Amino acid sequence: MRVGILGSGLMGGKLGTIFARAGHEVVFSYARTAAKLKRLARDAGAKARAGTPGEAAKDAHALLLAVHWSRFREVLKQAGDLAGKVVVTCSLPMNDGNTDLVVAHTSSGAEELAKVIPKARVVSAFNTVPSEVLFGVFEARRKAKRPSLVYCGDDASSKETAAELIRDVGFDPVDAGPLRIARYTEPFALLVGQLAYEGTAGPELAYRFEWFGK
Ligand SMILES: NC(=O)c1ccc[n+]([C@@H]2O[C@H](COP(=O)([O-])OP(=O)(O)OC[C@H]3O[C@@H](n4cnc5c(N)ncnc54)[C@H](OP(=O)(O)O)[C@@H]3O)[C@@H](O)[C@H]2O)c1
Repeated sequence: MRVGILGSGLMGGKLGTIFARAGHEVVFSYARTAAKLKRLARDAGAKARAGTPGEAAKDAHALLLAVHWSRFREVLKQAGDLAGKVVVTCSLPMNDGNTDLVVAHTSSGAEELAKVIPKARVVSAFNTVPSEVLFGVFEARRKAKRPSLVYCGDDASSKETAAELIRDVGFDPVDAGPLRIARYTEPFALLVGQLAYEGTAGPELAYRFEWFGK
């Protein structure tokens, strides 16, 4: 696939590198310096290059949106027409201090994003994991037991595209349902962040999901 990275920071930089190493053509865009984008592209290997958001969006099969909430409109403006594009968002609708969600409960960042780009096909994924785990998951991808990653969206074929990317990183994709489920996954991501960055003893969470006669 051709994958455009809109926002090449902790999430976009790492996921873009993994996508390139998994064999996709990747364009890194939207960092504060062109040098950062070029360095990322060089380190990610022959399949990656640096570009503008417009170049990342052009001919892309999928775009990863990985910017702070305060910047998503600006990066979309620079990306241009996204009609028909698969937009996988890992962005969380955080306030400027990154302490709280500014959209929650009755909507989600993913749903608000979909309203801004109604002709694009938005999938919410990757925002329930801290960026620090991504390379480790990729390195362990051939092991029998893979960690699961939830994703959600309204369009079946764009969800297949997202699931392929999720698998390429090394996760088992778990379809959580329509895009409105992001209003539950986004607050969950804050819990994960709380435990990952602020928990002193590194608690482990155990969940058991059972199949209720579906
Ligand atoms: N980090 C995580 O573990 C994590 C986990 C789950 C979800 N998320 C969500 O994922 C999204 C991205 O998070 P992140 O941690 O990857 O953020 P980040 O490291 O700050 O990356 C954001 C990107 O935007 C670029 N940027 C910021 N201001 C800019 C400007 N004025 N002009 C051009 N580029 C600019 C940054 O440039 P530079 O590269 O030059 O800094 C960077 O490439 C956020 O919505 C966050 O809530 C993050």
